[in-house]
Amino acid sequence: MSAKPSTNADLAINGGTPVRTAPLPWELPGAHWIGQEEEELVTKVVRAQSPFRYYGADPQHMVDSLESEWAARLKRRHALAVNCGTQALHICLAAMGVGPGDEVLVPGYMWVSCLSAVVRLGGIPRLVDIDDTFCICPKDLQAKLNDRSKAILYVNMSGAPGRIDQVRKIANARGVYLLEDCAQAAGASLNGTPSGGFGDMAIFSFQQNKNMTSGEGGLIVCDDEHLYKRAFAVHDLGYARTAAGRLDPTDEAYQLWGVGARMSELSGAMALAQLRKLDRITGAMRTAKWQIRDRLAALPGIEMRTILDPAGDSGPFLLMLFPDSATADRVVAAVQAEGVKGPEGSLACVTMKQWGLHWYFNVPSLVHKRAISPDGFPWSHPANAFHEEISYARGTLPVCDDYHDRGALLAIASCLTDKDVDDIATAFEKVAAVLMPGR
Ligand SMILES: Cc1ncc(COP(=O)(O)O)c(C=O)c1O
Repeated sequence: MSAKPSTNADLAINGGTPVRTAPLPWELPGAHWIGQEEEELVTKVVRAQSPFRYYGADPQHMVDSLESEWAARLKRRHALAVNCGTQALHICLAAMGVGPGDEVLVPGYMWVSCLSAVVRLGGIPRLVDIDDTFCICPKDLQAKLNDRSKAILYVNMSGAPGRIDQVRKIANARGVYLLEDCAQAAGASLNGTPSGGFGDMAIFSFQQNKNMTSGEGGLIVCDDEHLYKRAFAVHDLGYARTAAGRLDPTDEAYQLWGVGARMSELSGAMALAQLRKLDRITGAMRTAKWQIRDRLAALPGIEMRTILDPAGDSGPFLLMLFPDSATADRVVAAVQAEGVKGPEGSLACVTMKQWGLHWYFNVPSLVHKRAISPDGFPWSHPANAFHEEISYARGTLPVCDDYHDRGALLAIASCLTDKDVDDIATAFEKVAAVLMPGR
């Protein structure tokens, strides 16, 4: 607890002395670790004057190395680097053949890219509620699966998996694809299986907010040769490539339409250097997060997200629930005033109500069923007429609605000092003692 018992007047939000005044570091995990290793690999690409992965004066095979190291780490047969996680999702669902008449099951706590990937392919998202892990609830999933279900998009939210082992069994039993979104969970695992090891396909993102970063970037893994070849063709210009890196449109099985989402050697070099640091980055976040979490868990009135396997938590976020929405608002505002905030523009501690497009009913294009072409596609497609019975308005998923209202999120920077960790926990203890006494 803080040194002396606090009163309302002691809180910084009421004019008291804050726990700290120096801003916390910005919560961009991999960015803090960019250094000599990234510089060296990127410089190799620049010096070789060969930033394209498939051919050039002297390709350095950075993207090839990234793919092979990633595949080996996850024990998957194939890895395919792409230009971002959003495209990775689209490419995987395209490889699975999602189109009009198909439903893809998507949790209500996710990122907007999970929805756009489905809709842009002409499919229809079917929302599934979350459970205490903040990931898909297997029970609600069972209830939502139906004859039109083509794939489950399981999102490993906020750094850690939920009950994905159960979801894997459900997908097997129902004969639907499982696509694992690990954009927020690179380096995580569940009981020894890495995130990205459960799905028929899995995707990662290397955008700047992620556990490792190349600014923009993404990666797909899978074991199935056919899915890989389809994903390859879609990620490129619709076709395979020869060993010399030239387009090869001859194989009829892989004459598709491409989206031009190749990764450049510059991004590959950055991502490769970061991959080699990934366990150190996530290890730092996990250690700091669980030190804070253990202190906060002792406070009455704060409920922690269930993490099934703490050793497999990649650590970038601490999710908590307060007794009600008003208390969540009050505590977060007071904790921010105590100095739990980063530089202008960063998001160290926010209520879930401030977490935007992560919640289904905050996505206007979904709620209003916005079309991607003037004829109303995909909603207007005859095979999708069943969407009339589907609502995406708030009220569809009771657990999501509840967690959104009374939840809060603390981002854990990967370079927190012992003092930062202590200050954060102390700020919560000070605020909780006043705003949630004896709950
Ligand atoms: C859960 C989830 N899926 C997909 C993405 C998309 O990744 P990207 O930003 O690389 O397109 C993100 C990143 O914001 C994400 O958080």
